[in-house]
Amino acid sequence: MAASGTEIATLIVDGREVKAPADHSIIEAVWHSGHAQIEQIGCMQGVCGSCRVLVRRKGENTVNPALACETLVEDGMRVSFIHHDDKARVDHHYRLSEITNSWDAVNYIDERFPEATDCRHCGGCDSACPRGLQVELAVSLASGRDTRAKDPVQAGKLFEECIMCDLCTRACPEDIDPNHLGLLVRRLSASLLLRPVNLLTRLEEIRKGEARIEYDSGPASSDSPEQLEH
Ligand code: SF4
Ligand code: SF4
Ligand code: FES
Repeated sequence: MAASGTEIATLIVDGREVKAPADHSIIEAVWHSGHAQIEQIGCMQGVCGSCRVLVRRKGENTVNPALACETLVEDGMRVSFIHHDDKARVDHHYRLSEITNSWDAVNYIDERFPEATDCRHCGGCDSACPRGLQVELAVSLASGRDTRAKDPVQAGKLFEECIMCDLCTRACPEDIDPNHLGLLVRRLSASLLLRPVNLLTRLEEIRKGEARIEYDSGPASSDSPEQLEH
């Protein structure tokens, strides 16, 4: 468990000793200690997946994936940043314009990701996912051997909070790229289904020049406009 914010935690990050207040994230701790960590950092909000790390906590034998921008430091923690470019990946090329009929979607997915049917259900992708997504289930729903159990739409929903950190791909012994399979099913779902009605309404407002953007910049007042018209 992390200590209170006033305590100083000592941890090892990529072999370097780092000291930082215990309310700092791993990335903040690296900066606090004077190191110039500028690669593998993006949004700082747990969204982009750039800052993936492996973490072993004091007294534990297991190593777990995490995001360095949102994981608080702990005394005795050992951290390794995981680089993105050291696994050869198969590129999956596709054009959404090639498929206009949703009846063909299941076959299309199998043709573009044939290796996904070789999933051995080892759970490696689930263990690797710092978002706690049901990756193995989503792979089965998108492209499993059992055709009657397939449900690409549901698979797309399971991948909705994927941040494309690639950890599931690295963990997979069958060289399946679960997150890229997930991206395809999400894209197919979006391109083949009706658009959300609130999006349609918003686009129509923009087309008519009626769209208004509201900025929350303090207490509203009748003589200080808080809205811009577009
Ligand atoms: S599904 Fe894969 S790429 Fe997406 S967040 Fe989980 S581990 Fe990262
Ligand atoms: S890691 Fe690969 S083989 Fe294992 S369950 Fe996930 S997709 Fe299937
Ligand atoms: S910097 Fe984007 S997820 Fe951590």
